[in-house]
Amino acid sequence: MQKIVVLTGAGNSAESGLGTFRAEGGLWAQHRIEDVATPEGFARDPKLVVDFYNARRAQAAEAEPNAGHLALAKLESEFAGDVIVITQNVDDLHEKAGSQKVMHMHGALKSALCAACAHRWPAPLVMAPGDSCPACNRPAARPDIVWFGEMPYDMDEIFRHLSEADIFISIGTSGNVYPAAGFVAEARSAGAETIEFNLEPSLVGNQFEDIRIGSASETLPVWVDEILQKSRS
Ligand code: OAD
Repeated sequence: MQKIVVLTGAGNSAESGLGTFRAEGGLWAQHRIEDVATPEGFARDPKLVVDFYNARRAQAAEAEPNAGHLALAKLESEFAGDVIVITQNVDDLHEKAGSQKVMHMHGALKSALCAACAHRWPAPLVMAPGDSCPACNRPAARPDIVWFGEMPYDMDEIFRHLSEADIFISIGTSGNVYPAAGFVAEARSAGAETIEFNLEPSLVGNQFEDIRIGSASETLPVWVDEILQKSRS
C-alpha cells in the first residue's frame, strides 16, 4: 500500500484568516518568541502567555478550512493508500475539513496540559493562569502547545511514517524550525518523491524534487486531483 506523508505549516491556514509567524507583520513581529512561546516566558508571565493562546484559540474557533485543507481531506478519503497529515499548526482546521489521521507535533489550542502530572483535557475557550488540573487538582494548567526548547510530540511515530513514505509533501512552512524542516531529508533518504507547496521556495526548498509555487488553496486541489487520477488509472 502506498503512503503519502503530508507536512503542513502556518501557510496552509493563512487563507483561512490565521496569520503566519514570519511574514512581515506576522505573529513573531507582534510578539517576542521568548515571551510567549518558551517555558521561561510562561514562568515569568503566565497571564501574558495564556492570554496570547486564548486570543489564538478564539480566532481559530471562528476560522473555516480552506480549499487546501479540503483537498487533503479528499485525498485521505479517496486515495487507495495511506495518507498521514503531520501538522505544525495548533488550529483544528484539518479536522474541521474532515481529515482523520492528523498528528499535531506542536500541540493543539483545543487541548490543555497539566505541567505537574502531564494529564491532558479539552481546553476551555478561555483558560486562566493557575487553572487546576482535573486529574491531580494542582493549579498547573497550561496550553498544550510545544514551546521552543520542548520536545515536539509523536516523533517516533512521525519518523516511522517518514521512513515508509512513498510521497512526501510539505505545504506552507518556511523551513526555519527543526525537526520539521528536516523531514524532507528523512523522506528522501527513505526513497520518497518530495514536493513543496509554497508561495516561494522555503529555506529547505532546494531539497525537494519538485516545487509548486502558489497559494495552497489553488495548488493543492490541482495536485490532489492529479494523484487521484493517477492512482485510479
Ligand atoms: P512561518 O510563518 O515560518 O512560514 C509560513 C510559510 O507559509 C512561509 O514559507 C510562506 O511563504 C508560506 N505561505 C504563506 N501563505 C501561503 C499560502 N497561502 N499558500 C502556501 N504557502 C503560504 O510558519 P511555519 O513554517 O508553520 O512553532 O512555522 C513553523 C513553526 O514556527 C510554527 O509551528 C511555530 C513557529 O514558531 C511554535 O510555536 C513552536
